[in-house]
Amino acid sequence: MSSFTRNAKGHLCAAGMPLSRIVASHGSPLYVYSGDGIRDDYRRFADAVGPAGGAVHFALKANSALGVIALLAQNGAGADIVSGGEMARALTAGIPAGRIVFSGVGKSADEIGAALDAGIGQINAESPQEVEAISRIAAARGMQAPVALRVNVDVAPKTHAKISTGQRSTKFGVSTAQNEAADLYRRMAADPHIRPAGLAVHIGSQILDLDPFERAYTALLSFGTALRGEGLEVPMLDLGGGIGVDYQDGTATDFTAYGKLVSRLFADSGFKLGFEPGRSIVANNGVLLTRVIYVKDGDNKRFVIVDAAMNDLLRPTLYEAHHTIQPVGPVGPVEGPADIVGPVCETGDYLGLDRMLPALAAGDCLAVMSAGAYGAVMASSYNSRPPAGEVMVLDGTLHTLRRRRDITELLAEETIPAIG
Ligand SMILES: Cc1ncc(COP(=O)(O)O)c(C=O)c1O
Repeated sequence: MSSFTRNAKGHLCAAGMPLSRIVASHGSPLYVYSGDGIRDDYRRFADAVGPAGGAVHFALKANSALGVIALLAQNGAGADIVSGGEMARALTAGIPAGRIVFSGVGKSADEIGAALDAGIGQINAESPQEVEAISRIAAARGMQAPVALRVNVDVAPKTHAKISTGQRSTKFGVSTAQNEAADLYRRMAADPHIRPAGLAVHIGSQILDLDPFERAYTALLSFGTALRGEGLEVPMLDLGGGIGVDYQDGTATDFTAYGKLVSRLFADSGFKLGFEPGRSIVANNGVLLTRVIYVKDGDNKRFVIVDAAMNDLLRPTLYEAHHTIQPVGPVGPVEGPADIVGPVCETGDYLGLDRMLPALAAGDCLAVMSAGAYGAVMASSYNSRPPAGEVMVLDGTLHTLRRRRDITELLAEETIPAIG
């Protein structure tokens, strides 16, 4: 089942509301989310991993619109964050500090201090240097910091190189080989300013095969069990995110097999569990709406030039990612191949290449599907283009989450020095 389906007249709808109506009132380019779909997918994930026990922290990096976070918070989600900015978003949207996990390889002293002051639930440390910094900053505050150690178990996740984090060759985690991670965990346990919270892994994103998860989780379990064997406190294992989604058809992700795997591996382990899903909760619950500006003839294909661009959705050019593109109105017969391109002055500025699409004309609206994750969050104002706004349909009501800024607001952020 998809969150975006066609009604009897052939119009594409978000949770039942025609997208043509939404774009008519809110303009383009525009991100439209199905709040109903996000809520359903979050609940299905929580239900699937429920039997194994544990806390779900939505990875804000996938979609950090306050309205989306607030919806997930209402449904029981905590947050996985990677910056002080994301912490501010999580707190503003109503996620209690104690339900926030701070991930990432480069937390600054200011960010660590702010997290401790807020009463953060868990900091996932990624290096000896970071553990030392956290200890120092906690000591200055006369407190104990809750720290989990992100380990690197050297498992290749079989996904795009730029979103693979599980191998030793990447910057992520502390290697479990040659006692590196074990020694650091022992030091954490002996440090009066650190309360060891357990271990974490995250091997990558858009992982469609369960085998890398199984290998990484098995390695994590045996490492955690060995540390416990030494008498160390290892309360929790944080299993990260990474579950892949169907970018072809936009079908909702089935979490059953993942839930069964986690139950099989951890049900009787005595460890509390943590999860950090991002993409799988939001990707297929968002579309980017864009209008055709011109249709230009090229050699053997058309260039459909639209008003959304790589500054709105970077994934096609950054990851060679596929997003299905379809007209929002009733779909006519295929006319032939087309490149769907934006106005940005880069050859890499495309949303889709060689797509078999019907006849299109200026003003027609297209939906770039599966754009709810790593879409709006990666937007920039490259070419001085204010990025797309964001709206959400929830329980039959359309909510504006973020209006599109205009160029006056962008210019107001800058100053011209008195030169000459
Ligand atoms: C530490 C961490 N946790 C969770 C996630 C979320 O991953 P995904 O969106 O693939 O579920 C990421 C993203 O790569 C991450 O770096």
